[in-house]
Amino acid sequence: MSTCPVSANAAAFDPFGEDYQADPPASLRWSRDEEPVFYSPSLGYWVVTRYSDVKAVFRDNVTFSPSIALEKITPVSAEATATLAKYGYAMNRTLVNEDEPEHMPRRRLLMEPFAPEQLAHHEPMVRRLVREYVDRFADNGKADLVDELLWEVPLTVALHFLGVPEEDMATLRRFSIAHTVNTWGRPSPEQQVEVAENVGRFWQYAGTVLDKLREDPSGHGWMPYSIRAQREHPDVITDSYLHSMMMAGIVAAHETTANAAANAIKLLLENRVVWEEICADPGLIPGAVEECLRHSGSVAAWRRLVTRDTTIGGVPVPRGAKLLIVNSSANRDERHFDDTDEVDIRRDNATDHLTFGYGSHQCLGRNLARMELQVFLEELTRRLPHLELVPGQKFTYVPNTSFRGPEHLWVQWDPAANPERADPSILEARQPVRIGDRPNRTVSHRVTVLSAERAADDVVELTLAAADGKPLPKWSPGAHVDLELGDVSRQYSLCGDPADRTTYRIAVRKDPDSRGGSRYVHENLRPGSTLSLRGPRNHFRLDPAARHYVFVAGGIGITPIIAMADRVKATGGSYELHYCGRRASAMALLDRCRRDHGERLHVHCGTEGTRLDVAALLAEPAEGTQIYACGPDRLLAALEDASAHWPGDALHVEHFTTTQRVLDPGTEHAFDVELAGSGRTVRVAADQTVLAALRAAGVDVPSDCEEGLCGTCEVPVLGGEVDHRDVVLTKSERAAHTKMMACCSRARGGRITLGL
Ligand code: HEM
Ligand code: FES
Repeated sequence: MSTCPVSANAAAFDPFGEDYQADPPASLRWSRDEEPVFYSPSLGYWVVTRYSDVKAVFRDNVTFSPSIALEKITPVSAEATATLAKYGYAMNRTLVNEDEPEHMPRRRLLMEPFAPEQLAHHEPMVRRLVREYVDRFADNGKADLVDELLWEVPLTVALHFLGVPEEDMATLRRFSIAHTVNTWGRPSPEQQVEVAENVGRFWQYAGTVLDKLREDPSGHGWMPYSIRAQREHPDVITDSYLHSMMMAGIVAAHETTANAAANAIKLLLENRVVWEEICADPGLIPGAVEECLRHSGSVAAWRRLVTRDTTIGGVPVPRGAKLLIVNSSANRDERHFDDTDEVDIRRDNATDHLTFGYGSHQCLGRNLARMELQVFLEELTRRLPHLELVPGQKFTYVPNTSFRGPEHLWVQWDPAANPERADPSILEARQPVRIGDRPNRTVSHRVTVLSAERAADDVVELTLAAADGKPLPKWSPGAHVDLELGDVSRQYSLCGDPADRTTYRIAVRKDPDSRGGSRYVHENLRPGSTLSLRGPRNHFRLDPAARHYVFVAGGIGITPIIAMADRVKATGGSYELHYCGRRASAMALLDRCRRDHGERLHVHCGTEGTRLDVAALLAEPAEGTQIYACGPDRLLAALEDASAHWPGDALHVEHFTTTQRVLDPGTEHAFDVELAGSGRTVRVAADQTVLAALRAAGVDVPSDCEEGLCGTCEVPVLGGEVDHRDVVLTKSERAAHTKMMACCSRARGGRITLGL
């Protein structure tokens, strides 16, 4: 018997041990399943491992301060402290560890060089470098890709991006590793002094470079840009910031990317089929990069400081607690990603990964890193498709909590079979890198309607197949697709069999007030019609660990619910299915429910007097029971009220459209967006974001957080007043009404004009 609040697993957790070093998310599977927020006595940190909790912590940078992000995780010995003092080491706030209200104004002043159009200038240099390095070893038949390519190219790119003169690479590599160990490692007392020596010299080096740049800050690069910005805003961009950033910036831009590339290539070569797929079709590379960042990202964990008593995932955590938020574990959380250990380069939600963090501190350099990773993969898959890992090698990692990548990556190939020997034109082939694109989210598939059958009064069930006859992307119960229907795009839940990769099934109810979506489906789609489909995406996932499931569907809300009930039935789980409708003849898929779910099915029909008594259904909270509901707002609101005394995460709901989850058409108003460039006008419905309306009209605006936190979706405003709802813009920027975040902000009146 134990009265200790720390479980045996939590007590044994060691982020410097072999298991975590080899595979952080696998080593924390127990935590995701049993104890997703736990205190680690050996580390002195609370550890957070589930996707929803890690994201919630990233999202709220006031309750969870980033100030400790670069603190030394291992207490420093007196000797090491003295060594650091000798060099005047004074690493302080940069961006990544800066609190509000200082952080956002600084980030905004300095983000311009990361804009996609600015990054595009670096692509030729990245490509040239990768080619030169590959030239050096292409004929050797064997290479350590880390030593011969993946370390130096990102370092050179980082120096170039920062505007720092190229230095002795070996020295900078030593400095960078020392910084990693110093910040996130557990060096022995003897190692501490050596590490401190290198860190101190790195600090001094950063100071010298900064002084040199200050003499003439007119050159290219982010650091000269920052020095120039300091002249105008010395209170926002301080001397301490510049010196700290000079050092931290090299590490942020370099080691992260070198490690990410090594992880990605290792992972793809271990999954040969996938490697060969991208060799055959380089168009798959952006999706592969994102999936590698998800599966084996180079930042395994990050840190935050709790600033007030709060709860994370229902667990009380006190003010002053330090958090290790394990984003690599979140990235393999079964509650957010299907088949999480699998490498699926077409995964619809791979870009949801948290490897770049999330929210207002989200990595500024992510698109530069993505570009480098894409170029690495393109050049290697094209020039050395026959590359393989040297068998039997043991991968080693610099022991630390956060920066993760193999120290060496030995590969071999037969140089006689290098395709460029037979066909030198191969050297010229090249995929344009689309900077800032979110792969897979924007990929659309042409589909053909195989059948369109009446499924109930005013409901048609469509069976769709890929127009090119290829397998359709995987999906899981709860997923929806976006259909492009004339001028609008609408979301429909999939209700067929996920194991069937040849067809998708959806059921569409004709909405009498339809502005084109459901009416278009009913009036225009016939067997043989073709249309575009995006997705699938899943915002309504089943928690595989529930002990019992209560499924509640209202009307056409049966579509995601039936797929969920089918899944739980197939896995032998315990469940009940409540299906509510006004009259049986209007209830789609009712026969299928009766046939497949027999006694588990409870039909609640208004005309037959068997209406669902929501309060009675949820009277007794049951440990381990999860409720999944989809249907009209009235039903969902009743379920929310009736489950108020249930654990916080027991009820999961899906409104008919996902945008309604954030936008209440009862309180929002519709408006027009005029696009100055084309003179077009796009209508934004009351339950729609500007971003969604623009996309539905074929206008691509990049986005990331889609919650007003990151600034990616900024669009210029030329006329009209904006109802700003982001946290990115400053007060005076808001008042100027010259730009807005398309993902969340809206028009105050009936019209705004955008500079698009
Ligand atoms: C912040 C990861 C590449 C510059 C971050 C954060 C993470 C991260 C986890 C903290 C996010 C948060 O607190 O929410 C990565 C990974 C990379 C990468 C995995 C490569 C695969 C780069 C590159 C640059 C860069 C190439 C620069 C050229 C920054 C900056 C921040 C940051 C400036 C601070 C942003 C802020 O706090 O406002 N990165 N990074 N990173 N990264 Fe990266
Ligand atoms: Fe992040 Fe809009 S602010 S996408």
